[in-house]
Amino acid sequence: MTFICAFTSFDSLLVAVFGLFAWYALRLLQRKRTGLLPPGPPGEFLLGHYRTVPVDAAFKKYAEWGKQYNSDILFFETFGTKWIVLNSLKAATELLDKRGSNYADRPRFVMFEEMGWSPTLTWLRWGPKYHLHRKVLQPPFTKSKVCQYREHQREQALILCQGLLNDPTDWMNAVRRFSVSIVLKIAYGLEVDSPQSPWMELAKESGEAIGKSGAPASSIMDRFPPTRYLPSWLPFMERLRFARTWRHAIQNITHLPFQAALEVKTPSFVQSRIAIHNSNPPDPFTMEDIKGAAATILIAGSDTTSAALNLLVLYLLLNPEVQKKAQGEVDSLGSLPTFDDIHRLNYLHLVLNETYRMCPLSPLGIPHASLKDDIYEAKLIPKGTIVYPNVWAMFHDETIYKEPERFWPERYLSEEEGGNGEPLPVGMFGFGRRICIGRNLAENSLLIALAIMLATVEIGWPKGKDGKEKRFEPEWSFRGQAIVLPFRASFISRSAKSREMLEIEVAQS
Ligand code: HEM
Repeated sequence: MTFICAFTSFDSLLVAVFGLFAWYALRLLQRKRTGLLPPGPPGEFLLGHYRTVPVDAAFKKYAEWGKQYNSDILFFETFGTKWIVLNSLKAATELLDKRGSNYADRPRFVMFEEMGWSPTLTWLRWGPKYHLHRKVLQPPFTKSKVCQYREHQREQALILCQGLLNDPTDWMNAVRRFSVSIVLKIAYGLEVDSPQSPWMELAKESGEAIGKSGAPASSIMDRFPPTRYLPSWLPFMERLRFARTWRHAIQNITHLPFQAALEVKTPSFVQSRIAIHNSNPPDPFTMEDIKGAAATILIAGSDTTSAALNLLVLYLLLNPEVQKKAQGEVDSLGSLPTFDDIHRLNYLHLVLNETYRMCPLSPLGIPHASLKDDIYEAKLIPKGTIVYPNVWAMFHDETIYKEPERFWPERYLSEEEGGNGEPLPVGMFGFGRRICIGRNLAENSLLIALAIMLATVEIGWPKGKDGKEKRFEPEWSFRGQAIVLPFRASFISRSAKSREMLEIEVAQS
């Protein structure tokens, strides 16, 4: 008995000493790893950086910290969730493009789960389900495949311009109609037959739900998932309240057009997938996957395009000399622009690129996540770190873009051509393996809408009842996406001839 007791206490002593040693070694290792991490502002006790990073316009604060810490990569941590911000194109291309296989994951989007999303490529973690969705969704949107949608895009661009001239007060609705009608037809074979179409209301609601939900993966639920089970009336749970209030919008946009597509049976992504599904049992791409993928096309494709067009209108309004020059280029065609003309309109492309640069719609991109430990310029990026490319900081870096707040499309021209030889912006559609699948479609939509708008509509300041211009300072929302808040503008026909050409083409379409 005494022997056993003696053995037990010796054993406990051994365990205690070993435990102490292991704890000390772990501390040393952690301290060593912490010393290797990229720099960043100090966090708070327990909360880490939760309250340090502002919810509004976080991208501007990250850019400031980048200068303060003299680093293009910054590190943050809250409740064990680690994230880095990449403030330079060099860091983003090195990590997200060149070492893309290590940064192809996404974090868990707990807030979006709370909002009721179906399987959706955009939020899926790296793995078999993701590969399946990307394999199905990417092919219809390659550069050559998107040509099949051109006729519909041009038709909708003509209707857009007619809408701007007929009802200038409701111009943002005409823009939304344009972008929704393109992806609604591709995904579901459904038409938007009037500005009052119920699909418009659905798209508007889901757009608000996403646009105002904050930067993806940055809520307290994303940083510390158990908080999703707390009551939403608690004062610091405003984003849980938001998620629950707007859940219906995500559910409606996912279910209602899908149900309608099953009934109308016109050619669409949904119909072609259902045909494959029925002829290929058991198809790994289930009906639930088809529903989620179609909703991805509609949601990811409509709001982004509308937001970009709203910005184009704003910058043309604020920069009449740019508008005039772009109109001159389009006028030289002698008829309303078609897709065959687009490649000849060099200034048009510069105007679009300058719009992307001035205000990237997702200033912090959609976050990626790392699959294993990595070292970048002697700094450790631990496995599972969330990675935000700060596209806004890249596009407003004054060492690359002279007077970055100035809208100046000529900046991309060479010095001999009167420009500054600055590089076209890269990264507004993301990076690496997760790059936007809809970028070719979106670019075509924006170019044709812009070209026909320039040919037919003069955009100006809104007028008051006294007939005088009412100038204003644009207002913005920088929670999550960068969105210009609704503003008024005047849209008048450029000439009787352009109006006639527009009416004839709309009637023929
Ligand atoms: C101006 C318009 C658009 C902009 C600025 C835009 C921007 C982006 C960005 C920044 C990402 C994140 C990429 C990354 O993680 O690195 C993304 C992803 C995505 N976009 Fe777009 N997008 C636009 C239009 C569209 C359209 C028209 C569609 C659909 C046809 C679409 C579908 C998607 C999808 C499915 C993803 C997720 C890809 C993945 O996670 O693998 N987008 N987009």
